[in-house]
Amino acid sequence: MSAFADEAIKVSEKSLTAGALPPVRIGICGLGTVGSGTVNVMARNCDEIAARCGRRIDIVQIGARRDNPNCDTSHLNVTREIFDVANNPDVDVVVELIGGTTVARELVLTAIANGKHVVTANKALIAEHGNELFAAAAEQGVTIAYEAAVAGGIPIIKSLREGLVGNRIQWLAGIINGTGNYILTEMREKGRSFAEALSQAQALGYAEADPTFDVEGIDAAHKLVIMASLAFGMPLAFDKVYTEGISGVAREDIQYADELGYRIKHLGIARRTEDGVELRVHPTLIPQRRLIANVNGVMNAVLVSGDAVGPTLYYGAGAGAEATASAVIADIVDVARTLNVRPDQRVPLAGVTQDSQGNLDDVLPMGDTVTSYYMRIFAHDKPGVMSQVAKICSDQGISIEALIQHEPAEDEELVPVVLLTSRARESQLQEAVNQIEALSTIQAPVVRIRVESLG
Ligand SMILES: NC(=O)c1ccc[n+]([C@@H]2O[C@H](COP(=O)([O-])OP(=O)(O)OC[C@H]3O[C@@H](n4cnc5c(N)ncnc54)[C@H](OP(=O)(O)O)[C@@H]3O)[C@@H](O)[C@H]2O)c1
Repeated sequence: MSAFADEAIKVSEKSLTAGALPPVRIGICGLGTVGSGTVNVMARNCDEIAARCGRRIDIVQIGARRDNPNCDTSHLNVTREIFDVANNPDVDVVVELIGGTTVARELVLTAIANGKHVVTANKALIAEHGNELFAAAAEQGVTIAYEAAVAGGIPIIKSLREGLVGNRIQWLAGIINGTGNYILTEMREKGRSFAEALSQAQALGYAEADPTFDVEGIDAAHKLVIMASLAFGMPLAFDKVYTEGISGVAREDIQYADELGYRIKHLGIARRTEDGVELRVHPTLIPQRRLIANVNGVMNAVLVSGDAVGPTLYYGAGAGAEATASAVIADIVDVARTLNVRPDQRVPLAGVTQDSQGNLDDVLPMGDTVTSYYMRIFAHDKPGVMSQVAKICSDQGISIEALIQHEPAEDEELVPVVLLTSRARESQLQEAVNQIEALSTIQAPVVRIRVESLG
């Protein structure tokens, strides 16, 4: 047990008997969007937060390279050197809101080494370095809390960790990147192309100048592994996530999906199967009747299915200064509440328990996953083409469950044919696609999007 933890318990015990707990002293690193939102909400709601927490939360230091006009820190102790905060003996909890994985990792390790608890909104940090950070935290008997790292203001970490604790989680599926969801919504509702919808998202400040993390699924993969680690008690397996972005989704696929009764959403999916855990991020057709299919714009939603409770849906703002601050403050209060709990009982808050470290063999290769598929094929309008396609599918054990083929336009050689298949193993579907693309009557590439019923 660290000297700090020991001391904290003594202080807490003394204060409890005296009837009043001393304030929890926090230091905030980073005063950007989330940092300024956190300072503002803490200032506005300080009395309610203190009443609910049972003690005051004092911001004793802020580490920021420069002031932020969106929040008033004139009455606060601001340092330009964030490591001052991690080394400040008066700080009990370091709140890391700088982003990135290099300086942030060093900062968090320094805080932990100094016996401080950590609250972070940094999904990349947790997904890529969480196993190391949690091990260091366990060693020091301190907590790392990261509610804001997944789905912004939605309390999904708390739901997985606490609300659903009595369940064996079977699967979860989430729209966990607001930028991607905004782009797909614009494409469907306004008939925009991917490039047009992306420019619109950039103009509105929903997408970065370099949108790679959002549109190629990396951000969603970060969040998915964090949820999967909690849902299945496994280490963070970021390197094992199959990740496909939305840049290849065409507006005609969104229209055909509509005709078939589906919406295309960019989902992060984690599923426990008999053979292992599926971890995948990709565009997905979802039946229109599902609530999650109707989550539009920048909003996020996560469906979690537990064996006892069945499917549950969590919906809300996945980003934004104050929505994210809501989750950061929830973590600060959580940590404050555990300060008088024995450190070894606190650590599971970090998500990955020590005895679940190390086993990453459970993650299934993508070729072994099983789903239904949407395929769009450009075929020459000649007799016999569809029977060739059907035979290739059937040889791979795949049946065709729905088909759309519109009349070709005048003088049009190629016609789009859209198919929905039965459930099939990814490797078999890929083999069928290879054979279809090799037909002289088909123009490659075949567009292929996975389908999930989420029932
Ligand atoms: N924005 C959201 O809605 C949202 C939602 C959920 C989670 N998050 C996560 O929250 C974290 C913060 O995001 P954000 O949107 O608030 O980012 P942001 O607006 O870019 O703010 C980051 C702040 O940290 C400062 N900073 C970075 N490195 C620093 C260093 N070495 N020393 C001192 N200050 C440093 C930056 O200062 P400069 O301005 O001087 O560079 C900036 O003010 C990220 O991990 C992000 O993934 C954000």
